[in-house]
Amino acid sequence: MSQRRRTAILISGRGSNMAALLAAAADPAYPAEIALVLSNRADAAGLARAAEAGIPTVVVESRRFGKDRAGFEAAMEAELAAHGIGLIALAGFMRVLTEGFTRRWSGRMLNIHPSLLPAFPGLDTHAHALAAGVRLHGCTVHLVTPGVDEGPIVAQAAVPVLAGDTEETLAHRVLAEEHRLYPAALGWLASGRLRLQEGRAVVDPAPGPSGESLRNPG
Ligand code: GAR
Repeated sequence: MSQRRRTAILISGRGSNMAALLAAAADPAYPAEIALVLSNRADAAGLARAAEAGIPTVVVESRRFGKDRAGFEAAMEAELAAHGIGLIALAGFMRVLTEGFTRRWSGRMLNIHPSLLPAFPGLDTHAHALAAGVRLHGCTVHLVTPGVDEGPIVAQAAVPVLAGDTEETLAHRVLAEEHRLYPAALGWLASGRLRLQEGRAVVDPAPGPSGESLRNPG
């Protein structure tokens, strides 16, 4: 098969989405190779999980840079370059990236967000969904653009909001979908099936067994 795309996962915490991506990439046929897990916090629990899986990890502590976002991102860029990274998957990475960084990685960086965007961008999405009384909630994988949680939508999964749900029960139901959705979306990006058309993300059909596209020629 063609070369797997060297991918970095950026985390800030628990790393359950990271673990789902690592599990998918453990299959040699998966088009992305997880070549680096980078955290902006030294205490991110996901770091130990990545190390256990034998993945190189690095900490670039955002705290050390204070308000110097450009300096923080330059330090991240140095690590990404040192590891030959071509794609980025943000997985619970809780720092807003500058316009410069997002432009440099345009079309090569995905994020997963715990709501059905454009509903409930930002933080505390499950609390906002409960407060709004929506009957459907879910998660979104999108390409990252300068506007926070605004990039072209690649994939979404919906779950019902049930009577008696709390933030925790709802988060748990959404998270199970995140773990299913993110590996699929990164696979599309890494295999070159994802492209932008008039500002929207389009996923091309998988090639057939002999390599030809399954798209209807008519
Ligand atoms: C996930 O629910 C992810 O969608 C969310 O943080 C959680 C991280 O969990 N991301 C955001 O809110 C980004 N704005 P994880 O560390 O177990 O993957």
